[in-house]
Amino acid sequence: MSEVRVGLLGLGTIGTGVARILIEQQALISRRLGRKVVLVAAADRDLARDRGLDLSAVRLSDDANDIVRADDIDLVVELIGGYEPARTFVATALEHGKHVVTANKALIAKHGEELFPLAAEKGLAVGFEAAVGGGIPCLKALREGCAANAIESVYGILNGTCNFILTKMENEGADYAEVLKEAQALGYAEADPTFDVEGIDTAHKLSILAAMAFGAKIRFDEVFTEGISRITPSDIASARELGYRIKLLGIAKPHGDQVEMRVHPTLVPHSSQMANVSDSYNAVMVSGDFVEHTLYFGRGAGERPTASAVVADIMDIARVHPHGVEHLPAPMGFVESERREMATMPVADISCEYYVRLMVRDEPGVIAAVTSILADQRISLEAIIQKERHATNSVPVVMLTHETREGNLQAAIARITALESVEDNALILRKEQFAA
Ligand code: HSE
Repeated sequence: MSEVRVGLLGLGTIGTGVARILIEQQALISRRLGRKVVLVAAADRDLARDRGLDLSAVRLSDDANDIVRADDIDLVVELIGGYEPARTFVATALEHGKHVVTANKALIAKHGEELFPLAAEKGLAVGFEAAVGGGIPCLKALREGCAANAIESVYGILNGTCNFILTKMENEGADYAEVLKEAQALGYAEADPTFDVEGIDTAHKLSILAAMAFGAKIRFDEVFTEGISRITPSDIASARELGYRIKLLGIAKPHGDQVEMRVHPTLVPHSSQMANVSDSYNAVMVSGDFVEHTLYFGRGAGERPTASAVVADIMDIARVHPHGVEHLPAPMGFVESERREMATMPVADISCEYYVRLMVRDEPGVIAAVTSILADQRISLEAIIQKERHATNSVPVVMLTHETREGNLQAAIARITALESVEDNALILRKEQFAA
């Protein structure tokens, strides 16, 4: 069989990893496929930087147009990241008859619904395994391995940067900003790290997982999203005292015609599988009506793991190119005509247990006023801790609630923070009990 010719857009962290695998593992890849995959060309704005790789056999350019329009390329790998110009280059590559593989979750979450039909119309494949869970083949597991199931929930730790930061803050009492710098140096973070720490990257990934799990269209803009930037070492310590760790989770569940999708720092019991996923590792739990609970674990970020997932997609496409692309599984796990518009459940309607941290003046009657508002909203408390006074006049009061509707909790917190003796910086974290 003829060789499959690859063009690479972006020689940053992941692009360098992909080039490295295609060069260093060429013989292994050929043995697995029965044909050769060749890195023909690569484009990056900075060609001067030493990447520790011999790229002398690769045609290099500083213009991505030289790749997406080239006649001698079968498959374009987009590793620029972000919405634009990535979207334009991917669309142009498809229009010029090239398959596309990308690690770009922002692109798929925001523009997947335009790109999948374009690819289908042209008889081309779009691979995006590396967009969710870095090196973990979790999309393949959900799309193919769990295909016989109605999916009941999918949730996970989907951002390596946040997990790295929370792990270091807990283990070393380290400062948030310092740890973020370390994660960036290790190549985990997005170009704009607010995407990581404010939960946007996790929301991109969750919107893809939810749509694939439930046969829905992707609705990234509707994911309820909160990040980790307001978590303090004191919250981590209070959670630990109560028997929990704080993890940034993405959670999706179907409710009839609606989908619940939320990203937020979450209290998880110490004994749960999620609590024990540390550093830049990710984990995705998929539960189905026949299979029950399945868990996928591995490196969620970084050059080598993410490049591993990109190259697996290239190999899947290389197995069928140029014939039979229609026999590959549908990219989102359901044939296009069967994918539905499912409404997103309003966050006020979700129910869970909550951790609430208030900063209150240490004076008589404050706790009584707070608990009377909670009682008005029919919210029952599981635990309450008041910490000793520090330098300021305010003291943290931490409460754990029993299960309640988010709308009721938010209404109670608005009234509580309007009290004169309570500061207006309440922190609300949600708590999850897992089956595993
Ligand atoms: N910035 C992302 C993370 C990279 O930290 O998980 C992988 O998508």
